[in-house]
Amino acid sequence: MAALHQSVKRQKLMVAAIDFGTTYSGYAFSFKEDYKTNPLQISINQSWTAGSRSLVSFKTPTCILFDKTQTFVAFGYAAEDQYSELALDDNHGDHYYFRRFKMKLMEKPLQRNLYLESETKNKQMPAKTVFGESIKYLKDHLLKTLETRGTTVVNSDIHWVLTVPAIWKDNAKQFMREAAHYAGIVSEQLTICLEPEAASLYCQFLPLDKFKGNVTFKGSSSKYMVVDLGGGTADITVHEKQPDGSLKELHEASGGPWGGKYVDEKFMELLITLVGQDVIDEFAELNKADVLDIYREIETKKQTIKPDMTGKVTIKVPVSVGDTYKQKTKQNIKKVIEGSRFEGKITWTGDKLRMEADLFQDLFKDGKDKLIDHLDKLFHDKEVAGVTTIVMVGGFSECEILQEAMMDKFGQKRKLVIPEDAGLAVLKGAVLYGHKPQTIVQRKARYTYGINITPAYDSREYSPTRRVTIDGVDRVKDVFKKYIEKCQPLRVGEAVTGRHVTIKRNQREMLLKIYASVDAEPKYVTDRNSEFLGKVVVELPDSEERLTVEVSMIFGETELMVEARTQNPGQAPRIHRAYFDFL
Ligand SMILES: Nc1ncnc2c1ncn2[C@@H]1O[C@H](COP(=O)(O)OP(=O)(O)OP(=O)(O)O)[C@@H](O)[C@H]1O
Ligand SMILES: [Mg+2]
Repeated sequence: MAALHQSVKRQKLMVAAIDFGTTYSGYAFSFKEDYKTNPLQISINQSWTAGSRSLVSFKTPTCILFDKTQTFVAFGYAAEDQYSELALDDNHGDHYYFRRFKMKLMEKPLQRNLYLESETKNKQMPAKTVFGESIKYLKDHLLKTLETRGTTVVNSDIHWVLTVPAIWKDNAKQFMREAAHYAGIVSEQLTICLEPEAASLYCQFLPLDKFKGNVTFKGSSSKYMVVDLGGGTADITVHEKQPDGSLKELHEASGGPWGGKYVDEKFMELLITLVGQDVIDEFAELNKADVLDIYREIETKKQTIKPDMTGKVTIKVPVSVGDTYKQKTKQNIKKVIEGSRFEGKITWTGDKLRMEADLFQDLFKDGKDKLIDHLDKLFHDKEVAGVTTIVMVGGFSECEILQEAMMDKFGQKRKLVIPEDAGLAVLKGAVLYGHKPQTIVQRKARYTYGINITPAYDSREYSPTRRVTIDGVDRVKDVFKKYIEKCQPLRVGEAVTGRHVTIKRNQREMLLKIYASVDAEPKYVTDRNSEFLGKVVVELPDSEERLTVEVSMIFGETELMVEARTQNPGQAPRIHRAYFDFL
């Protein structure tokens, strides 16, 4: 069926990708026919104009507004604007507003019935609805765009690609598949694609003159590192281009929460240091629209700051912060700095917070150091040590402070490459991936995969507390039988097989529970690091004998298929299958 899914997808007229980012989201598409003549002929919506501003962008903020009945109202800039209006009229209290919620899926353990906390206090909604409605909005927007353009393409003509961070756990990826299903994108027409893989693919297609810097990207070295610096995460993969143009992963995806949003948080921390947590809490609770303004302001300032900038940076901070401060402390906001360690470095009058440029540059330091530290460690890996090209993609790659820091650290020995539209590399690459998913031929297993078994008890190996007696035999429960070990190279389409014998005679079914673990050698499926992925129920034929079930784990382009085979003498084998996203 995995193969079947692929052929169903191949028959579609168009590939459309949704990049659901932490800070910004968007879509892009291209027709199968156009791809054949020019793969880079990809359409992107260019009219995410915010109602109140003339700003035009290719992506729209990842935020969504629901009314009091939890009915969808708006997404993106429109949601920001409407929520802001509601807040100004003090009518926002019964609405539900969510922003930057993607990273919630990274928190572990992820539950299927996860609820998200609305920005309006004490209100929650199911994460599945929030993600599902967001994807649905982007999907419907795209369909409407197609209609306006006069095409006759409908949803069923589209092969959808949804991007996810490579460092996400399997269950978060599965969650996105379910959210897409909620949005009306069925599994058969959906491919989940890893963000840095998409970006890597995009760079392969891009002509050399579309890169910044002195690039010989497609020349000498076929090994390169892709660093996707988004709003939420820094996601890193290392690829080697094969002679046939396909890509092999040299190191499993890694990274951390060091995207552009980290800087926003550091600025909020600075404000808290200045006026106190309770002032910020009260201000944020009573002035929702102003909170939004602060974030917009930081966004603008973040994009204009240069590493060599000196003098002062002026940040507009709504007067309501000062008002709240005055009301709570009976002091003037101007006074807050005097006598503090920021005296002489920061002044705050009315709605203008002026700070020395180096203080603002400091807000980037922590995330930047963590990223560089991480990359430095990666280069100590023997597979990665010889990599001489670093490709920076994602919106935060445009940040000059970061670029300079990367140059200082790695520029001597390595080439740093930034494609022209770094912030769109993932989105466009995802479209390319949909046309040709087989471009990625080998990955490193991100987890150890296995199945629960109940082997005979051996006191030298197992704890007596796990001993059970079944059908007169002492056995051990919940043992992790390893099929694939973390970091093992996997060719797409490769199968790993094993055998499982029933533990009782006349057993009617065998329940195979599939687990993933971050450990290389997990012992029990109940270990803290083991995670249940799903199950395959194998119905067994009548038999007085104990039966052998042959199990294969097959790594497809985007999904893991588990296949169990039973054979009754003289009969055709019976096959049971289940699918999991494993990327
Ligand atoms: N010129 C710039 N200078 C500094 N930061 C920038 C610049 N342009 C964009 N950013 C930052 O990049 C981030 C957005 O990048 P991008 O659109 O790639 O992220 P995303 O896809 O929303 O997030 P993720 O990939 O982590 O889910 C924001 O934090 C934004 O502030
Ligand atoms: Mg992104």
